[in-house]
Amino acid sequence: MSTSNPPAGGSVREIFDTMSYGPAPEGDAVVRAWLAGHGSAFGHYIGGAFTSPTAGESVSVHDPATGARLARVAQGSAHDVAAAVAAARAALPGWQALDDHARARWLYAMARGIQKHARHFAVLESIDNGKPIRETRDIDIPLVARHFSYHAGWAQLLSAEFPGQHAYGVVGQVIPWNFPLLMLAWKVAPALAAGNTVVLKPAEYTPLTALRFAELVHEIGLPPGVFNLVTGDGRTGAAIVEHPDVDKIAFTGSTEVGRAIRVATAGSGKGLSLELGGKSPFIVFEDADLDSVVEGVVDAIWFNQGQVCCAGSRLLVQEGVSDQLIGKLRDRMERLRIGSPLDKAIDMGAIVSPVQLERIRQLCALGIEEGATCWQPSWAMPADGSFHPPTLFTDVAPSATIAQVEIFGPVLVSMTFRTPEEAVALANNTPFGLAASVWSENINLALDIAPKLKCGVVWINSTNLFDAAAGFGGYRESGFGREGGREGLGEYLKPVRAHEPAPSPVAPAPVHPAGQGHELDHEDRTSAALPAIDRTPKLFIGGKQVRSDSGYSRPIQGAAGRVVGEVGDGNRKDLRNAVEAAHAGAGWSKLSGHQRSQILFYIAENLSARATEFAERIAAMTGAAPPEAVSEVEASISRLFTYGAWADKHDGAIHDVPLRGVALAMHEPIGVVGVACPDPYPLLGLVSLVAPLLATGNRVIAVPSERFPLSATDFYSVLETSDVPAGAVNIVTGSRDPLAIVLAQHDDVDAVWYVGSQAGAAAVERASAANLKRTWTEWDGREWLDPRCGEGREFLRRSVHVKNIWIPYGE
Ligand code: NAI
Repeated sequence: MSTSNPPAGGSVREIFDTMSYGPAPEGDAVVRAWLAGHGSAFGHYIGGAFTSPTAGESVSVHDPATGARLARVAQGSAHDVAAAVAAARAALPGWQALDDHARARWLYAMARGIQKHARHFAVLESIDNGKPIRETRDIDIPLVARHFSYHAGWAQLLSAEFPGQHAYGVVGQVIPWNFPLLMLAWKVAPALAAGNTVVLKPAEYTPLTALRFAELVHEIGLPPGVFNLVTGDGRTGAAIVEHPDVDKIAFTGSTEVGRAIRVATAGSGKGLSLELGGKSPFIVFEDADLDSVVEGVVDAIWFNQGQVCCAGSRLLVQEGVSDQLIGKLRDRMERLRIGSPLDKAIDMGAIVSPVQLERIRQLCALGIEEGATCWQPSWAMPADGSFHPPTLFTDVAPSATIAQVEIFGPVLVSMTFRTPEEAVALANNTPFGLAASVWSENINLALDIAPKLKCGVVWINSTNLFDAAAGFGGYRESGFGREGGREGLGEYLKPVRAHEPAPSPVAPAPVHPAGQGHELDHEDRTSAALPAIDRTPKLFIGGKQVRSDSGYSRPIQGAAGRVVGEVGDGNRKDLRNAVEAAHAGAGWSKLSGHQRSQILFYIAENLSARATEFAERIAAMTGAAPPEAVSEVEASISRLFTYGAWADKHDGAIHDVPLRGVALAMHEPIGVVGVACPDPYPLLGLVSLVAPLLATGNRVIAVPSERFPLSATDFYSVLETSDVPAGAVNIVTGSRDPLAIVLAQHDDVDAVWYVGSQAGAAAVERASAANLKRTWTEWDGREWLDPRCGEGREFLRRSVHVKNIWIPYGE
């Protein structure tokens, strides 16, 4: 601070009142010299060496605060990407052959390297991205080091803590520009700790700290090919996504690109995690401490110029305190300082690029056009560079564009609510589901609201808290997967199958010549003289047996080529009804784990009472030998017991974050899940998929085995006698793939599990892209009878969201 003309002999108060900030610039000479030393031009880092910066097309990188060009970086071609993937593949066996401790040492060396060069990284990040040095120095870079050292810990514990799991292989990672080095750390640290090798592409606007990181791993001597960096724009990203030898894609960026990546990877078998946009609510109840709220808002929407995926960009205020809070906010905005990112005394820096600035301006203009009131502070903006003032919109309709779309700039829209119910409804009125802040001095109220918010992270009386130990991520159009915490590491591991898939005990489907009539099996006839009493099973929707809307039935051929029954041919309308019933059955999700476990045990008990009948049915349909059919039923009973056991034991965690308080990692049911079941093991396949979902509180719409659905239609009569509430399980028989696609498209289905063909999996994943629901697809068969691959944590993990609720405490 400096004083401007202090009044001679004035009081201390007068002196303070007349003090103003002077500039406090951070030096950038070292970083400028580093850039100059490279001729301000950079190639890729592939297989442990930098490629020539002058070969091929390049992209210019600018300083957002001045518009001046900082450097040129190579535009990665498909050829460059292929070279990087090949290097990563070649490095994989050596990297995986290291023991846990050796990988931990490498990650630790990266953490140390970041710490040693912390100021270099901080200054470089500020001039490349435009964010204040205060933030890069005190938040971004320390968190980067924290991520590497936290994951050095997981690398050390990997075999002990994740038995039966292994790395994906080569991981392709594409990151955005808003936290360039931090996003690199969030991606690279867990991937390497889990034993993967990496090809990473930074954003075209902000590649410089990633290039400096590549230099760092080179300096510490990381084996060549373990970490590869390819720079360039979206075309380079697309080449990574499409490369056939990449085993998993991890992406952070816009929802639009996330959706395109979902489509591009559909049916490829690649793992996928997406961290996308948000429109996160910042909810203020009237008993909140409004002065703390004001500082919270500053952090929520003006931190990093609002270019934060989880920015609290929708301020929802309880009506009684709205005017007062808006007044306080305007006062505070008037005192925010904007300017050179390298000035240690500013609050806000520059927007990353002129394109992004224009996008923010256009959305603000649209807000005014749509009738909202725009307020900005009176002070003047820097004349050059990409700056945007902090902006507050009031009188915003919930349906207004600025209340719905992600602005990704320093623009806050505010709305009011009257009751807690209204607050929840308003908060959830968005296709996103990333984060939320809840402000109230009443902890009962805050903790009642948190689980009702559709999002992956909730901050109570706080905002934008991040740590490597706590998972971060969302759902719906905010993507899927978590970064950080145990759950984040899990995204880079997959189970080792105990056995290769066993051949299924299913006889090939007998071909039924077209036009020939079907003869019912004799066991369905009570007397040759009398027609059999019709036992056509129906669909099971909302706890009731209902006929299919299609009005068609399909014959089910037994092993001997005879028709052993008929089932309803379910269609789109039946699924719609089932989705409605599943939503109406929300009570299942509110039962305690103990209550759900009692019901799962009861289903097992009732199945056991009819075991012989179920085994006979399986044998008649599939041609399995009687002992095999009996084993399938016995395994199904045991599996129900497994999930009865898990229902009250699949606990969340309390993450140890550096905060006076706790971060609760709560397991929440995903909601309504569509399940398409495999043909082999028609009973066990159904039970193996439905029971973990039920144990964790989801409601299910199951499309049973297409060829052998009668075990499922027999099974609903077991459900009917086992106190399963209406809507918790719905069964719609028919053609698996078309029905699974309808489920994948349906906006009110929260996730789809599909076990079938590769083509079917591809169609389901493509169909899910519109609303970005979570999918889990498989087509290579599993040994369902073996509990090591047919049940357990893998299924439970897929059945839940982890919601992290941060609760600071103390006065
Ligand atoms: P973007 O999603 O286009 O860029 C993010 C990354 O994806 C960059 O590395 C980019 O090169 C890459 N990319 C672009 N197209 C790709 C493709 N087809 N395949 C693979 N990779 C591709 O985001 P952009 O255009 O920079 O920003 C646009 C809007 O996206 C922002 O205004 C903001 O609303 C949102 N956004 C959200 C972020 C978040 O963290 N949630 C981060 C960045 C942007």
